[in-house]
Amino acid sequence: MKEKVTSKFEELYGPGAVLFASPGRINLIGEHTDYNGGFVFPGAVDRGIVAAIRLNGTDRVRAHALDLGQTAEFGLSEADKPAQSWACYLFGVCREIQKRGGKIGGFDTVFAGDVPLGAGMSSSAALESTYAYALDDLFSLGIDKFELARIGQATEHNYCGVNCGIMDQFASVFGKKGCLMRLDCRSMEFEYFPFDPEGYKLVLLDSRVKHELVGSPYNDRRASCERVAKMLGQEFLRGATMEQLDAIKDKISEEDYKRARYVIGEERRVLDVCAALEKGDYETVGKRMYETHWGMSRDYEVSCEELDFLVGVAEECGVAGSRIMGGGFGGCTINLVRDDVYDRFIATAKEKFAARYGHEPAVYEVVISDGSRRL
Ligand code: GLA
Repeated sequence: MKEKVTSKFEELYGPGAVLFASPGRINLIGEHTDYNGGFVFPGAVDRGIVAAIRLNGTDRVRAHALDLGQTAEFGLSEADKPAQSWACYLFGVCREIQKRGGKIGGFDTVFAGDVPLGAGMSSSAALESTYAYALDDLFSLGIDKFELARIGQATEHNYCGVNCGIMDQFASVFGKKGCLMRLDCRSMEFEYFPFDPEGYKLVLLDSRVKHELVGSPYNDRRASCERVAKMLGQEFLRGATMEQLDAIKDKISEEDYKRARYVIGEERRVLDVCAALEKGDYETVGKRMYETHWGMSRDYEVSCEELDFLVGVAEECGVAGSRIMGGGFGGCTINLVRDDVYDRFIATAKEKFAARYGHEPAVYEVVISDGSRRL
């Protein structure tokens, strides 16, 4: 990717670009908990975005998205929002830096990526983190790493229409080779957790299905959680108990009740997984992953037939844990698989999925890697 990006940059804008990169992420457990003030357990992966950038001394940005073969040009004022959705990520990052007092100017850039789009591995956070990190570096702004993550998150909120939590941008910026990170999304305290389970592998199966749903189902889920938290007199659902939820059951819709029940359960599962990891008890980790999946499918309703099918195959093959990963509505499952089951599982999943849906799922072995950096 480095060579590809550099040579395209030279072709379009000449020499002298600097390269930056940021990764996509996985999440072991703790899904839809970030915006509820709960815990998440992500790690950065060895797939991401690489960008070549050179300041151009003007107040305009010229950008080329190599994978799409598209170019955009825009200014840095609020009225300059570009038409292409991919360019809005770059524009949003510029605007959010400026809103925080950062003085930036124009630049030329070419970027490419190898995070599969729509797989739930946060290609958009990788893009935001790449530019937030790069502009901070090139304009010597001195922005701290949490703020870089918040700039990416605010870009999603204000320029892309997704009211996401902080997990993806945090993971992309803070990733560390070989380590998952447990982040408390209320206090923003986190710790690195070396993760190399002996006798197991983490693997993603990408259904390559993306359900375009009408409206904004992610934002709807978040709104449900906020309504219930408000009803409980809390800022976040974090810390709420099932007893408290049951006490207000007849004052909220059945749908909101189910959404909150999932989130309350998920908070407990993340803590269980941490305790189990400390004991090297991967079978318990896996059980909680299955519980998360069926909670996301039945209560949170962000799974889909294809992902439920893949999790069902994992159960049949004796895989320790399997679940849909990320925001939902398609994408990948994340699987914790004992070495002796691995080959049979992959072969069976490919065969059964292809027989049912006409194409094989893509298989990505997870390599936990470093976060945003200058290359
Ligand atoms: C998306 C969002 C994250 C998080 C996950 C679900 O990836 O960007 O903030 O809410 O969904 O855990």
